[in-house]
Amino acid sequence: MESSVRLPGSTGMSSQPALQREQLQALYDISQVLNTIWDIDNLLERIMDIALQTVSAERGFLVLREEGDGNKLSVRTAREIAPEAALSVTEISSSIVTGAIESQQGVLTVDAQTDPRFAGAESVIFHQIRAVMAVPFVLRGKIVGAIYLDSRKNREGFTDESLAFLKAFSNLCAIAIENARLMGSLRDENYQLRSEVQRTYQFKEIIGNSSKMQEIFELLNKIIHADISVLLEGESGTGKELVARALHYNGPRRDKAFMAQFCGNLSETLLESELFGHKRGAFTGAVSDKKGLLEIADGGTFFLDEIADIPASIQAKLLRFLQDGEFRRVGDTETRRVNVRVISATNKPLAKEVEKGNFREDLFYRLNVITINMPPLRDRDGDLPLLVRHFLQKYSQKTSTPEKRITSEAMRMLSNYHWPGNVRELENAVERAIVLAGDRDLSPEELIIPRVVKAPGGSRSLREHEREYVLRTLEEMGGNKTKTAAALGVSLRWLHYKLAEWKEAGN
Ligand SMILES: Nc1ncnc2c1ncn2[C@@H]1O[C@H](COP(=O)(O)OP(=O)(O)OP(=O)(O)O)[C@@H](O)[C@H]1O
Ligand SMILES: [Mg+2]
Repeated sequence: MESSVRLPGSTGMSSQPALQREQLQALYDISQVLNTIWDIDNLLERIMDIALQTVSAERGFLVLREEGDGNKLSVRTAREIAPEAALSVTEISSSIVTGAIESQQGVLTVDAQTDPRFAGAESVIFHQIRAVMAVPFVLRGKIVGAIYLDSRKNREGFTDESLAFLKAFSNLCAIAIENARLMGSLRDENYQLRSEVQRTYQFKEIIGNSSKMQEIFELLNKIIHADISVLLEGESGTGKELVARALHYNGPRRDKAFMAQFCGNLSETLLESELFGHKRGAFTGAVSDKKGLLEIADGGTFFLDEIADIPASIQAKLLRFLQDGEFRRVGDTETRRVNVRVISATNKPLAKEVEKGNFREDLFYRLNVITINMPPLRDRDGDLPLLVRHFLQKYSQKTSTPEKRITSEAMRMLSNYHWPGNVRELENAVERAIVLAGDRDLSPEELIIPRVVKAPGGSRSLREHEREYVLRTLEEMGGNKTKTAAALGVSLRWLHYKLAEWKEAGN
């Protein structure tokens, strides 16, 4: 039976003593305090203090039913009793608390030494315990825990009134404990959700705060967990490969492989064999069976770079793969299946290539379930200083040297330039300037290639300087593109791209 507390003025027949006005006031005050404590440990300490004070007890402890295993009790706070001893079977406190919990009733005795209920209890004699009180915390008919108090000398506080008071108090405690527990688990859940959200919003490697880049980040977050194909379009150096990698390494496939295949300027056979693999003897030079990159990427992400350049025959095979997940190694009859997420990139607008008849329309639709248009650097307001700082940091980390600074004139100069080579060109310009600046801060001087500055010609664009510088280096390297790229600090791919661009422009 739940204890009933007779309030002043009520006419109940209860044998329980009535609470005094000041006790009611105290209960009210306590409820105010309890309702503002959301931290469970803190709350239990307060409950313990109030209970000890109310009955002037010497010792006490508080137990709660464990959340996972409702039958197990754990001592959450204790005063003058070792927590590990409190529930030990040889201690009377253990049987008293268990009794209070099982009966859902408060327990009070003012003379434990002679109380027949404790006859023979060694610990009562041993500790010379005179008065004992225990009250369960009951919430909606369920036991949440209990509080135990005892005393050797002072017995004055151990009265029926204080027992009634503690029972009323314990009801408040049960609610407050439940609230604090609920609050705690909500807080944990909230923390988890929040870190989940932050995790998906962290594309730390992609720098940019412009509205164009904010849009990109938003889109990336929407598609990162979907397995749909993504087509990245944008000028050279805008970060297409960076985004493809970010999608893989921040997404659910991050523990599997990320494989990239550059599809431009490759012979048909070579590209097909790279993608799908080949059987021994399939063509001259195929000396053994070989897995294609698609197979190696199984479970992971496959990045098809410069997709617009794929020859028609391979377009057909790729389409089949995207439709049915099936392919065959070159020269093989066995059909294979893999599960990869396909991300592709192009710096030629693919729709135009479809219009021109260079690219299959059906494949186009398979690849661009989502298209991300990477904005050119000149349209990314405010991103340039962030990128410059990022590259200064990156360089200093890479070379374990102190981070360089850049003068405001130099920064202004960079901001005014139109960056046809986008972020890659900026990164190269910053690296080159760092090397040229030696111990000095980066100034406009270092940002222009010295040899070209000295050359006659006056006010030519940086693009022309670039072309001349690249071609001259190529000449110095005897036409070796790999060496030239290394000397310039650019990728071989970039060099190929540039050479093709200049060729197309007819110089
Ligand atoms: N937003 C960015 N933040 C930091 N670095 C960037 C960003 N965008 C590009 N980069 C850097 O610029 C260089 C070029 O980027 P990336 O290779 O991804 O360009 P791309 O669009 O694939 O170019 P291409 O079409 O020429 O292959 C890389 O070193 C990359 O790390
Ligand atoms: Mg690229």
